[in-house]
Amino acid sequence: MSITTAMPTASPSTFVSSSLPATRTIFSGIKPTGRLTLGNYYGALRRFVDVQNEARCVFSIVNLHALTVEHDPERLRRLTCEVATLFLAAGLDPRACIIVRQSDVPAHTELAYLLESTVYVGELTRMIQYKEKGRGRPMTRASLLTYPALMAADILLYGSTEVPVGDDQTQHLELTRNLAMRFNRTYGEVFVVPELSRAVVAARVRDLATPTTKMSKDAPEESMGTIRLLDPPDVVRRKVMRAVTDAGREVRYDVERQPGVANLLDILAACRGGTDPAGLAGGYSSYGALKREVADAVVAVVAPLQERYAELAADPGYVEETLRLGAERARAMAAPTLAAAKAAIGL
Ligand code: TYM
Repeated sequence: MSITTAMPTASPSTFVSSSLPATRTIFSGIKPTGRLTLGNYYGALRRFVDVQNEARCVFSIVNLHALTVEHDPERLRRLTCEVATLFLAAGLDPRACIIVRQSDVPAHTELAYLLESTVYVGELTRMIQYKEKGRGRPMTRASLLTYPALMAADILLYGSTEVPVGDDQTQHLELTRNLAMRFNRTYGEVFVVPELSRAVVAARVRDLATPTTKMSKDAPEESMGTIRLLDPPDVVRRKVMRAVTDAGREVRYDVERQPGVANLLDILAACRGGTDPAGLAGGYSSYGALKREVADAVVAVVAPLQERYAELAADPGYVEETLRLGAERARAMAAPTLAAAKAAIGL
């Protein structure tokens, strides 16, 4: 397989809000800390594929972010490659968008430092992620605290207008916007202030075993609540059939009182490309019937993706070439913003 260097020109937007510049630029990233889940797919990856021909797009395997918690270097390299391969298997086309490994573009860390010099410690310690994973523990890595400055750098470097993410990233996006505005106000207009782009359905896929929490790739490998994109179909079926539902019997879409059932309906709607999980509820007389359909629907999504994954994994040179090309393009795209930020701040 080979990749041509032709990049499409950005086409006019179909859903741009009036505050956005005429050219849409989309950035998003996934952290290679675990094997990707259905949550990563519907909150992020699937949506990257949907927009790749509508705007200038940069999608990144944000491996520097994976250093914020205890990690094994070999596993990190392996997961970085797995996530890059999944980007392609899901349908990202390196001719249409930039696929980049974050550590290949030094501008990310350079701009992160300038933003660390813009953000307040009080803002960083308020971040939910820091509170949950690090606060009060002396062995917490300093990079977990400064993580949002690096994330803001990721986004602002490319002049991003939109950032498609799942609901759990809302707080980080809000901080990114605040930092961009503060920097612009203090040092001059350098950054585009980006908008969060939220999934219409399944913006927060919940854990099948504990439907009050989000499905996370960082869950233990053996977790029955986490559907991984590379889980074999029989494992997917087993996980769905064992999903925790609720005490009642009726299939209703009630996120507060029946989070397990609502989650299954969200997943079903997402798998079918629909937008109305509540509207699906009436079609099922039992939880068992619903689960069988969900299992079929998820398998129908992951099976072809896994086939493409196997083909790509057999050709690691293609994935490496994609990343090499992505790094080249991303470096060129990031350079002017970094230069402008350095000049504005007095360097
Ligand atoms: P990460 O790696 O935890 O997740 C990657 C993307 O998947 C979404 N997501 C979900 N969406 C719906 N339901 C879920 N259960 C679910 N779990 C995860 C996340 O919202 C995210 O969109 N900080 C980011 C990575 C990052 C980034 C960035 C994202 C670093 N720099 C710049 C956007 C822009 C993170 O940890 O995502």
